[in-house]
Order: sequence, then structure tokens, then C-alpha cells
Amino acid sequence: MNPVNIHDFRDVARRKLPKIFFDYIDGGSFEEETMRANRSDFSRIALRQNVLVEPRPQDLSTTYLGRRHPLPFMLGPVGFLGLYSGKGEIKAARAAHAAAIPFCLSTFSIASLADLRAKTDGPLHFQLYVLNDRSLCEEFLDSAEKAGVDTLFVTVDTAITGIRERDVRNGFRSLTRVTPALLARLLMRPRWLADIALTGMPSVRAIEHRPEFGRGALEQAANLSRRIDKTLSWKDIALLRERWTGKLVIKGVLTPEDAVSARDLGCDGVVISNHGGRQLDGASSTIRALPGIRAAVGNDFCLMLDGGILRGADVIKAIALGADGVMLGRAYAYGLSAAGEAGVAEVIAILEREISISLALMGIASIDQLKGSGSSAVVRYET
Ligand SMILES: Cc1cc2nc3c(=O)[nH]c(=O)nc-3n(C[C@H](O)[C@H](O)[C@H](O)COP(=O)(O)O)c2cc1C
Repeated sequence: MNPVNIHDFRDVARRKLPKIFFDYIDGGSFEEETMRANRSDFSRIALRQNVLVEPRPQDLSTTYLGRRHPLPFMLGPVGFLGLYSGKGEIKAARAAHAAAIPFCLSTFSIASLADLRAKTDGPLHFQLYVLNDRSLCEEFLDSAEKAGVDTLFVTVDTAITGIRERDVRNGFRSLTRVTPALLARLLMRPRWLADIALTGMPSVRAIEHRPEFGRGALEQAANLSRRIDKTLSWKDIALLRERWTGKLVIKGVLTPEDAVSARDLGCDGVVISNHGGRQLDGASSTIRALPGIRAAVGNDFCLMLDGGILRGADVIKAIALGADGVMLGRAYAYGLSAAGEAGVAEVIAILEREISISLALMGIASIDQLKGSGSSAVVRYET
């Protein structure tokens, strides 16, 4: 099948990946209510169709995170890309950089920032999980500086991991090594296995020199998760603000109060995010939270949004309601799992095409014009 849209890429990913990894990407926590709301709340917003508007050249470029970008979306942090496709982080970063949009590397990555910097020269961001071991955090920050990272995303919605029941059923959470039973399941996806095997045993490069994390990506991941600082508070964010001289963005904000706190501490923006419905099930969808947050922080503070973005129309709705830019999660993880770098490139191209067609049918020539129109470009249904 030739994927026509991102749903098609998801279908291919489901067939290509071992179930344990597909479910890890695809699933949410508990009832998966928030994950579904991230998508279904987009359907409660309609785009305004304006006809017979004088055509003007189209321009999808816009400003977010203090820079001009050719597209209103970027690739957000997704853990373990290198397990879905060999050298997955490098493939995703290359596809992003070919489109001149930023790529954000997760703390939970097979490739290190130095690996990435050696292979791509586009805009690189880093997502930090603050760990109990602050000396390791310092190492991460040093490597980010060396790799020329200008924006640091600190993820704050994962002090405790939400229970993702698909992962529990698959035994994902208790995995620390490849057991014979797991190997038998992985062998059912020989093309995926051959691709991963070619790149050697996956291991989190950034902590390879730390024997206390064990060996191999699975054991390292389990140990990293356990060491995420559960006591992280705004005081730590204030300290980080002093330490990190580049742009600092707080990822995982859902309320106006938290967004205002981030702004008042001197952060450069927030990502309105519920971790793709993988953490607090029952929390608001991100698109529903956006207008109240924009009203509270004013027009000059950068708001990024993620959660459920699978269509160009979703990007348009988020921008109309006040987002400066949008971040992709599962959308590009499906593309990568289905077809490697070309899959990510195609996901980017599909979204670009969909945004372009929808804007033209709305009688809007550019993303900046859409930002100017704001919520008058859409209609919000009551429910
Ligand atoms: C498989 C997977 C792994 C993720 N890993 C991370 C991570 O390491 N760090 C992080 O800040 N967010 C992580 N996220 C959350 C994403 O950055 C993003 O908030 C979320 O995927 C957005 O929702 P969407 O996938 O519906 O677009 C992950 C999401 C998925 C699906």
C-alpha cells in the first residue's frame, strides 16, 4: 500500500513493528480517554470556508521559538526512535532538516546529541528529563551546548509514569533484556529485526559510560525512568533558567496558571501537552486548553501545542486558536516505523500539502494571515 495519509502510515507501522513496540507508540494511559479527546476535540472546531477571494501566493512560513521557520510544525521528542527503525533518530532529524524544520531529541534516545550533530546540520533541540542525579543532567546540558542546541525542552508531566495498560499486557514495562519469549515475538517481524540488527545492539549512547544504568536500551531505559526526579518543582526550573543560557521551554503545561508561572520565571515558551494522553488520563485535550492559556499569557509568549495532530486541518485549528507552532509526536513515529527517513519526509510533505489545500479553500494566503485572523478563522461548537 502507498500511504495516502498519516492513518495509512499508522496501518503500515502496525504491520511492520513487533506488537510490543507498536502498542508502546500507539497507546495511552488507563482508559485512553485523554488520548482520544486530543483527536475528537479537533472535530468540535470547524474551519471557515471563504470563497471568491483574490488569489495570492501562498506562504506557510511563520515564527515560533524566536525564529522564522518554513512550516508551522516541527518534530517533537519521541523516545526510542532507534528501536522503531535502525538509526531512527538520525533518520528523523535528517527528514526534518531537509524540510528546514527543527527536530527535538528525547533524553530517551539511542543516538546521542554528538551522533546527531555529526550527521545533520539543521536546527537541533533537546528534551531533558530532570534526573535525581544532577551530575548526569549537567553532562546532558554540556553535550547540548557542544552540539549547538539552542532550545531546551524540559518535560514536567512525567514525575510518575501513567499506567499504559497495553504496555502492561505486553510486558513492556518490566522488560530489561531480550528473553527467549520476547525474541520469539521479535522474530515474527524479520524485516524490522534485520534492520535493527544491522545497527548493532541498541543502547542509549548518552549513558553508555555509566555502568549503573546497565547494558542495552531496555535495561538502561528502565533505570533512567526510575531516576526521573519526582520532586521537581518551580524552584528547580528557576535554577535551570539560571544555568541554561539558550531558550528554555516547559513541556507538559495544561493550565493558564502554570503557563503564567513559566513565563514569569523567564522561560521562553511552553508546550501545551498532556504527553499524547499517556500520562494523566481524564486531563483536558490540548486544543481545549489552548484558548484559556493564550488569554492568560498574552500575545508575546510562545505557545507550542502537541497532541493528536494527524491532519493539516488540526495544525490550522491550533494556530487559529493561539498556538505559535505545533509539534508532531506519533504522526512522524508512524512514518519512521513504516518507511524510515522517507516515511518521515512523506509525513511532513502530507501535512504541508493538507495545510496548503485547506488554507487555500479558507481563502487565507499565509500562516501569518491565519494568525492575524485568529479565532475568527474557525467556528467552535458548544459541546
Ligand atoms: C512513543 C512515544 C514516546 C515519547 N517519548 C517522549 C519523550 O521521551 N520525551 C517527551 O518529552 N515526550 C515524549 N513523548 C510525548 C511526545 O513528545 C508528545 O507530547 C506526544 O506524542 C504528542 O501527542 P501525539 O503523539 O498524539 O501527537 C512520547 C510520545 C510517544 C508516542
